[in-house]
Amino acid sequence: MTIEFNAGIEFSNTTDPLKTKILKRTALVGVVGLGYVGLPFAIEKAKVGFRVIGIEQNLSRSEKINRGENYLLDVNEHELQILVKKGLLQATTDFNQIPEMDVIVICVPTPLTPNLTPDLQYIEAVTRSIVPYLRPEQLISLESTTYPGTTEEIMLPILETSGLRVEEDFYLAHSPERVDPGNRRYTTKNTTKVVGGVGPRSLELAVAFYSQTIENVVPMSCAKAAELTKVFENTFRAVNIALVNEITLLCDRMGINVWEVLDAAFTKPFGIMPFYPGPGVGGHCIPIDPHYLEWKAKEVNFNTHFIALAGEINRKMPEFVRDKALRILNRIGVPASKARVLILGVAYKPDIEDLRGSPGLEIIRLLQKEGVNASYHDPLILSFSENDLAMRSIPLSENTLREYDLVIITTDHSNIDYNWLVKNSRQIFDTRNATREIKKYREKITLL
Ligand SMILES: NC(=O)c1ccc[n+]([C@@H]2O[C@H](COP(=O)([O-])OP(=O)(O)OC[C@H]3O[C@@H](n4cnc5c(N)ncnc54)[C@H](O)[C@@H]3O)[C@@H](O)[C@H]2O)c1
Repeated sequence: MTIEFNAGIEFSNTTDPLKTKILKRTALVGVVGLGYVGLPFAIEKAKVGFRVIGIEQNLSRSEKINRGENYLLDVNEHELQILVKKGLLQATTDFNQIPEMDVIVICVPTPLTPNLTPDLQYIEAVTRSIVPYLRPEQLISLESTTYPGTTEEIMLPILETSGLRVEEDFYLAHSPERVDPGNRRYTTKNTTKVVGGVGPRSLELAVAFYSQTIENVVPMSCAKAAELTKVFENTFRAVNIALVNEITLLCDRMGINVWEVLDAAFTKPFGIMPFYPGPGVGGHCIPIDPHYLEWKAKEVNFNTHFIALAGEINRKMPEFVRDKALRILNRIGVPASKARVLILGVAYKPDIEDLRGSPGLEIIRLLQKEGVNASYHDPLILSFSENDLAMRSIPLSENTLREYDLVIITTDHSNIDYNWLVKNSRQIFDTRNATREIKKYREKITLL
């Protein structure tokens, strides 16, 4: 693995001091929030020679970075160590280094309230923390996913309480992060990035900045359009997943194998694209972001019917899994109160260690309410504590599998030997079609 410091600089004869710093990569970059989005981004910027300071409120994360220790699967620790050693990457919990920074990128969470409305507390808190330190000739870019208008209607008025004016003194843009954690083919670097500025200067600077590390940058007419682009992308996924989930519920009633139908449908080379059903939709994006748009649309007296419907269908999937699991147990003569069920996978998708919004957790809760003794195994999450649930992963062995009446595959991690699992389990409920290649013992397997 090589890190190309200062590789491929395209330096034009601009007289603009901030743009010059960006093009020469002498601009000091601040990244607020070193999570799944912020840390890989900070590393990409440092790898091409920018000096990067991460502002991370979690002291343990911030200290780990300064020791060159990684805490995310997608990050290469060796790369991180080199960058820290070379002084290109450091972290702090304090905003008082903001005046030194030329570009400040914000990557903080955008969750929902329990009533499915946007919770902008993190964006607002960060923006307020920047105000006392804001100085002329700084570019601020929001990467967090949010509804159209957040950058201009929420952040801008707060930033201008500093007395500085956007487009005259400082610059403001939105460039939504599209990273797909765990995806080896598309990373921060080779995923096209859209950028919208609150004005032309902001756009020009932001495009110059992102073009330093990202192969394709698409400039947009305004920040709102960039915000909507990202929310639309996630809505597209949520709606299409809901569609295949609904077809799954119908196939269950009709006694048709939905996986066979989908595989056949996706052989058509045009006019369709693959989406697969599952036990529910987890993560920080698909179950959340569309509701940001749904909420904002109400401001213009508009109901986003697809978003509401998709959310409703996707949120019901864990209940469907519970019901079908109880049917399987019933069929093999095990009452819920005596049943032992192993949930295989509490990460919300394969090969990552993130359990935010995980359907696996929801299914454990639902089964426990029915009196089922539910445990879990996840090769990437050895223990967790989430609100009412605190559990440890059960090591997989022939002996432990024998103790369970049913194994429910909720996450199709790639490092599980599914042949071995099926052979040694009593019954399998496969909600991901992870066992598609397995020929033997098919009678033990029930698909979603
Ligand atoms: N995770 C993804 O797959 C993904 C993909 C694309 C976009 N996004 C969006 O990117 C944004 C960030 O998501 P994430 O997954 O990186 O979140 P995360 O929870 O992994 O990371 C956010 C980090 O911000 C820190 N933080 C919160 N408030 C802070 C503050 N006031 N000051 C300093 N640090 C603070 C947290 O401690 C945390 O480390 C969200 O809007 C999300 O929707 C996420």
